[in-house]
Amino acid sequence: MVRQSEHRPRGPECFSQQTPMDRAMADPVVRARDLWKSYDGRADVLRGVDLDVAPTEAVLVFGPNGSGKTTLLSILGGLDVPSRGSVTIGGREISRLKESALAKIRLHDVGFVFQTHNLIDDLTVEENVALPLRLARKPSDVRVADLLATFQLARLATRRPKEISVGEAQRVAVARALANGPKVILADEPTAALDANGTTAVLDAFSLARTSYQAALVVATHDADVKGFGATSYRLDDGSLTAVP
Ligand SMILES: Nc1ncnc2c1ncn2[C@@H]1O[C@H](COP(=O)(O)OP(=O)(O)O)[C@@H](O)[C@H]1O
Ligand SMILES: [Mg+2]
Repeated sequence: MVRQSEHRPRGPECFSQQTPMDRAMADPVVRARDLWKSYDGRADVLRGVDLDVAPTEAVLVFGPNGSGKTTLLSILGGLDVPSRGSVTIGGREISRLKESALAKIRLHDVGFVFQTHNLIDDLTVEENVALPLRLARKPSDVRVADLLATFQLARLATRRPKEISVGEAQRVAVARALANGPKVILADEPTAALDANGTTAVLDAFSLARTSYQAALVVATHDADVKGFGATSYRLDDGSLTAVP
């Protein structure tokens, strides 16, 4: 069987006509090489996955339930470690870091959006968006006001998650994911709980994350409605990632 690692559809050679400055700017924000993962010595869930995500690029990873999408995103974001292979975020190798260092990467360099929004019920919308800034001991007022305005959440600022719609909650989750200016947002089935309107609203929020906050995006989904927004699409199947034309 041909291993996925032998296919490098988005390798650095595609930048070879550019100046050193162009190349530096175009260096991938996420680079995964030959990722393998098995849980407790069972069959490999990932079997040599390679992936480059360029600055502000949107990447879709399609795949049926159980194909390893969550596993891949967890490893890309430092929530889990690969059995083998490497992950760099902004040029820094993260796959061998200790938990304390990974926690810093997750706070500063990566934003997560999950299927269910994972907002804190006892905090208002505004406080939820401010939370990553508080944890990073950064001033929050200006940044939070900016995020709430961009994502049209200002009128909901004092509501709690139970007092807003599921689609609005996902917009809050996107705003919160951007709080510390991450290089990339990793979104795991972000539209699975949403209707068509909610899905459109979240995809619009992702576009804003790229254009207004310069975040790259990796979205794992089995939702065929999630396409467009200029994304590069891949399919995860049998542990291998292949580009979808
Ligand atoms: N923490 C874990 N421990 C053991 N097996 C796991 C764990 N997480 C996922 N798996 C297994 O890995 C495979 C891929 O799961 P997952 O990454 O959640 O796929 P997807 O997100 O595409 O549905 C499944 O067979 C699942 O049972
Ligand atoms: Mg999953």
